[in-house]
Amino acid sequence: MKPLLLDDRLGTLPDYPFARLTALLGAPSGPGATVMSIGEPQHAPPPLAAEILAREAGLWNKYPPATGTEAFRQAVAGWLGRRYDLPAGLVDPDRAILPVAGTREALFLIAQAVCGRRDDGKPPVVLLPNPFYQVYAGAAAMAGAEPVFVPSGDGPTGLPDYSTLPPALLERTALAYLCSPANPQGKVADTALLERTIRAARRHGFVLAADECYSEIWDQAPPPGALSVCATLGEGLSHVVVFNSLSKRSSLPGLRSGFVAGDERVIAAFARLRSYGGAATPLPVLAAATALWNDEDHVVANRDLYRAKTDLAERLLGGRFGFVRPEGGFFLWLDVGDGEAAAKTLWREAAIRVLPGAYLAGTGADGRNPGQRYIRVALVHDLQTTETALSRLGALLDG
Ligand SMILES: Cc1ncc(COP(=O)(O)O)c(C=O)c1O
Repeated sequence: MKPLLLDDRLGTLPDYPFARLTALLGAPSGPGATVMSIGEPQHAPPPLAAEILAREAGLWNKYPPATGTEAFRQAVAGWLGRRYDLPAGLVDPDRAILPVAGTREALFLIAQAVCGRRDDGKPPVVLLPNPFYQVYAGAAAMAGAEPVFVPSGDGPTGLPDYSTLPPALLERTALAYLCSPANPQGKVADTALLERTIRAARRHGFVLAADECYSEIWDQAPPPGALSVCATLGEGLSHVVVFNSLSKRSSLPGLRSGFVAGDERVIAAFARLRSYGGAATPLPVLAAATALWNDEDHVVANRDLYRAKTDLAERLLGGRFGFVRPEGGFFLWLDVGDGEAAAKTLWREAAIRVLPGAYLAGTGADGRNPGQRYIRVALVHDLQTTETALSRLGALLDG
């Protein structure tokens, strides 16, 4: 039999973190298990979503337009304008916004749209923070680009500052991913860092992909967004695209509904690509999403619950494991000395499932994996479950 011609770039990707976790611990079975390895919100979704999905059920027999509905694009534009205090007209709902099936597919596909071939034959560079959301690396590899991991500093302290990289590297860069609030460290990019990054993107001609899917889960203050910085910098949304979804904001990871917004040239290219290979968002889902982007009450309640769990985590774990209160998002990034060993202990002794930090990072230029000492703990359960699990975690890992 003749062998198949599979794409060998797939073989260069590490196994996805959850496959690695299954290899380490076995399957996540058992009724008593507390799964804190995956960022899958277990909060009750707003009832509005189910109500609208039921009301619009007559639309399931229609193919949805890839560009969504006008009402959806208007709702997203309105939300962006209110959330980031944007001047009217900065984000054109018809040319600068697209619905996507969650940010994951969009963060992956964007690399296929913006990593063009270079005249000198060298592969374009994709910049990634390290540690990072693993989809960025898969996207870079499958786009035929060279991924460059940029250290975020040890612990929950830092975010990459791409503007300080050598100009020759930035000249080769096609795309830079920046996640704020950051998964896994919970750090928020301040306005100054976003400004430096956007200026660098414009000077060197690369696209900044700002992954803002945790933007509404914040502790003390709402994180600035890349579009709010565009508003103060001038020159429109040039070189910037932001990604957001209802997965974390509205506890609806199963709805698969998000958006991408930004530079109209990038959005046009992306729309073209997605009209071939993207999953269009179903009309009932677009209707629910429209209502949810227009509603802030459920978001406030959701955020309050996360904040209560962060308070709890600080009370139970503060002063240990290098605990730093996350500025945003819902992950604890704990220094336990050896993340894999800690994950095994927690699973074996308490059926608590956490992710070793090494699975969320790549080996840096110094030969070190910056996540190796850490575990990532997702605070996605109710208060009681979280309290029980964190108390056990603290007791077990203290040895
Ligand atoms: C940093 C980051 N970006 C993107 C996503 C994808 O989320 P979704 O596709 O549900 O919008 C996740 C999900 O966990 C994430 O942690």
